[in-house]
Amino acid sequence: MPRSWTFTLTVVASRDGFIARAPDHPPQGWASAEEQVLFFRDIEAADWAIMGRHTHQAADRPERRRIVFSRRLSGWQRPTQLWLDPEALTPADLPRLVARVHPLAHGLVLGGTAVHDWFLRHRAIDRVHLTIEPVEFGSGLPIFSGQQAGDPLEIFIRAGFALRSERVLNAAGTRYLQLEPV
Ligand SMILES: NC(=O)c1ccc[n+]([C@@H]2O[C@H](COP(=O)([O-])OP(=O)(O)OC[C@H]3O[C@@H](n4cnc5c(N)ncnc54)[C@H](OP(=O)(O)O)[C@@H]3O)[C@@H](O)[C@H]2O)c1
Repeated sequence: MPRSWTFTLTVVASRDGFIARAPDHPPQGWASAEEQVLFFRDIEAADWAIMGRHTHQAADRPERRRIVFSRRLSGWQRPTQLWLDPEALTPADLPRLVARVHPLAHGLVLGGTAVHDWFLRHRAIDRVHLTIEPVEFGSGLPIFSGQQAGDPLEIFIRAGFALRSERVLNAAGTRYLQLEPV
C-alpha cells in the first residue's frame, strides 16, 4: 500500500555547499528575499516541520506545528510542538506520533545537518527544494555530515538525487532547484 505521507527537504546553501557559517548563523541573515518567499510558501504548505533543536531555537515560533529533534528533552513541550530523540524511530513513526494533534501528510524537513542525515539514512526524502545563493562561506555547517566544500547540486547528486527543474530567481544569480531521489 502506498504510504500516505511525504517528506520534502527545503534547504538554502552557499555556492560552496554550506547551510550556515556556524550554528548561530540563520538563513534570514544571508538568504535572498526571493528564497525567503519560497521558504515561507513551503512552510505554509506543510502539515508539520521537522528540525533540530538549534534551528527551532534560532526561530522560535510557539504557535507552529513542529517536531524538534533533541536528546535532552522529549514529549509535547507546547500543544503543537513535539520534542523527541529519533534514534530508535524511523520517519514512518512520525505521522503516528503527531496524528492526535494534526495529520502529517506533508512533512517539511528544515535541518540542520544531523536532521538531513537522519532522513537521508532512512531514504525518506521524497523531494528537495534547493536554493543556491551566490555567496561563499569557505567553511561552515555542511548539508550532510562528512561532506567537503563543493557545488550543492553535486552534493545532492552524490547523495542519490536527480535534478528535475532549475530556474534563476533574481539578478544576483540565486538558483532554485527541485530534485527527487533517483
Ligand atoms: N540553510 C538552511 O537551509 C538551514 C536549514 C536548517 C538550519 N539552518 C541553520 O543551521 C544552524 C543550525 O544547524 P545545526 O546543524 O547546528 O543544528 P540543528 O540540527 O538545528 O540542531 C542540532 C541539535 O538538534 C538535535 N538533533 C539533531 N539531529 C538529531 C538526531 N539525529 N538525533 C538526536 N538529536 C538530534 C540535537 O539536540 P540536543 O543537543 O538537544 O540533543 C542537536 O544538538 C542554524 O543557524 C540554522 O538557522 C540552516
